[in-house]
This record gives sequence, C-alpha cells and structure tokens, in this order.
Amino acid sequence: RTRVLTGITTSGTPHLGNYAGAIRPAVAASRAADVESFYFLADYHALIKVQDPARVQRSTLEIAATWLACGLEPDKVWFYRQSDIPETTELMWLLTCVAGKGILNRAHAYKAAVDKNREAGEDDDAAVTAGLFMYPVLMAADILLFNANKVPVGRDQIQHIEMARDFGQRFNHLYGEAVGREYFVLPEVHIEEQVATLPGLDGRKMSKSYDNTIPLFVPREQLRKLIAGIVTDSRAPGEPKDAAGSHLFQLYQAFSTDAEAAAMRQAFADGIGWGDAKQALFERIDAEIAPQREKYEALMARPADIEDILRDGARRLRVQYATPLMAELREAVGLRNLA
Ligand code: TYM
Repeated sequence: RTRVLTGITTSGTPHLGNYAGAIRPAVAASRAADVESFYFLADYHALIKVQDPARVQRSTLEIAATWLACGLEPDKVWFYRQSDIPETTELMWLLTCVAGKGILNRAHAYKAAVDKNREAGEDDDAAVTAGLFMYPVLMAADILLFNANKVPVGRDQIQHIEMARDFGQRFNHLYGEAVGREYFVLPEVHIEEQVATLPGLDGRKMSKSYDNTIPLFVPREQLRKLIAGIVTDSRAPGEPKDAAGSHLFQLYQAFSTDAEAAAMRQAFADGIGWGDAKQALFERIDAEIAPQREKYEALMARPADIEDILRDGARRLRVQYATPLMAELREAVGLRNLA
C-alpha cells in the first residue's frame, strides 16, 4: 500500500493556501482504498518560528479541528501531533549525523534569512537559530520514520522532500548496504498542479509570514470583507482584463470546476468589474467551505475530544511503527536498546 504523509506547522490559523494546497487533496486521497495516510500537526516545527506557548496550543487545536471538519476520519488514517511521537526527534539526531551541512546551507528558508541579514549589513547568521538551520532534518525525520512514499505538499516544500531523500539514501548507504537492508523508503513529492501555490491578498504566495492570508474558517461576512480587500489594478468595469497573471483569477480557479473557470476567464476578457469578480469568488469559496465551517465551530467547542483523538492516534502509531523502527535503527548505528 502507498503511504501518504503530510503535515502542517502549528504556527497560526489555517488559511485557504493550507486548505487548497494540503488539506483538501489529502482528505480526498485518504479515501482511496489502497493508501495508508499519515496526517500530523507539526508542533516541533512551530517552535522554530513561534516562542509563544499559548499560540502554539491554539494553533494546534485549530489545525486539528480543521482537518476533522474537512472530513478526515481518524479511525481510517493516522492522525497525530508530531511531538506526541518523541521518536521523531531521536531519529532526527541519527539523520543529523549523516546530513551534509553543505546541503542545509542551501535550504530556502535558511538562505532567505542569510540574504536578509546581508541586506541589513548584519552577520550572515545574525538571529538565525540552529533550529531554523535544522528544519529540513526534522522534516526528513517526520517522513522517514513512517517510510512514507508519497508526500503531497505545496511547491514551497519540494526542496525539503529532496533533502529527505538525500538523508535517507545516505543512511541506507552507510548502514544498510553491508547488511543488505534498506532502512528507509525514499519519498516522492506530490504536487497538485492546479493549485500549486495559492496567492494571498497581495498576490504574493499566501503565507503566515507575509500576513496576506485568508483564514479558512472566518465567519461568512468577514470572508466577504477579506475577499473584497484583494489587491487589484485600477481597470474599470467594461475594460477587458487578463485572467492569466491575475491572482484573483488564480484563487477563483482553485475553488471551481474547469468549466466555471473557463466561464470566468471569458468574463475577464469581457470586462467584468473587480467588485463583481470578487463577489463571484466569495460565493464560490463560501459554497465550498460553509458545511465544514459549521463542523469546525462545533469541534472547537469541544477541545477535550480533539485532544483524545490526537493522543489515541499517537499511542497506536508509536506501538505499530515508531518504536519498533527506532529500536532497529538504534541497533543499526551501534546503539543499545534497553530491554
Ligand atoms: P506549512 O505549515 O507552511 O504549510 C502546510 C501545507 O500547506 C501548503 N501551503 C500552501 N499550498 C498552496 N498555496 C499556499 N499559499 C500554501 N501555503 C502553504 C504547504 O506547501 C504545505 O503542504 N514544513 C511543513 C510542515 C511539515 C511537513 C512535514 C510537510 C513538517 N514536516 C513532513 C510534509 C511532510 C510546513 O511548514 O508547511
């Protein structure tokens, strides 16, 4: 069976980009008969960016409720919180010891931090934590611990999956070849072509760090207001507009069928006003997420139930996979297992 795994960092409120890029395709894929799915809340990853414990907790709850509201069935998939599987950080250390530092130097997030420092005339590594630097190794541990072969993510994460392959391969080579074992399956990235990167309000990638997100489950009227705030140019109604290159159109496309998108492309060419285009976008998004929004609100009112679901998932997952694999890996590298 194909093993599909993906995670979301618990550093904020889930937004349309997380939904279209990760949650919606993941929930759909989890319904296939021949897959075993692993979905988790990346709270160890959150600590890299967020040093506010209440925010990490709140975000964990919101993201868990989002997955469940979007139709994830916790008795049919593995659904868990990363930090409930401490084997993750233990494996991270084993991988750290085979990961090339030069490869990590090239990680996008780290390079972006260095570039920013250079622009500001600071030392390259000013205010860069080792946590940020090691981010891809932690992510590799998430994936390799469960031998996932397919990792559905947005385009921003492709490099991380490639690094996970690299670290897994090095480990296999160093420790597996002599004993004829492949400890790790090498994961493949899976990109939803149509919604590879959802733009935010300002046209840049929708991202918590750009403060341009549309939260997934804001109340209806707030959703309308946020969509009305999408940045557009000053072309008036009646003036033809080009769908290609319009982030408003890209958002519309992510929430509509091919036929609906084609009709909107034509409406753009015919000069639809921005106000009408935004109203149409609002209606598409609201029609798709309204049922989930109701479920989300009900779930958020019962945090203890969510907690039970997460703990139960992690407990079973450790017994079935994480603990035995970790014991084998400790042995492989020459560490002992306490009986
Ligand atoms: P994170 O929390 O930044 O994003 C979670 C998922 O949402 C996707 N995404 C988007 N997709 C389309 N358009 C956007 N604007 C957009 N913004 C975010 C991301 O590509 C991702 O799929 N490091 C990961 C979490 C993680 C993980 C893993 C993922 C930790 N370990 C192991 C897969 C496997 C992250 O920060 O995603």
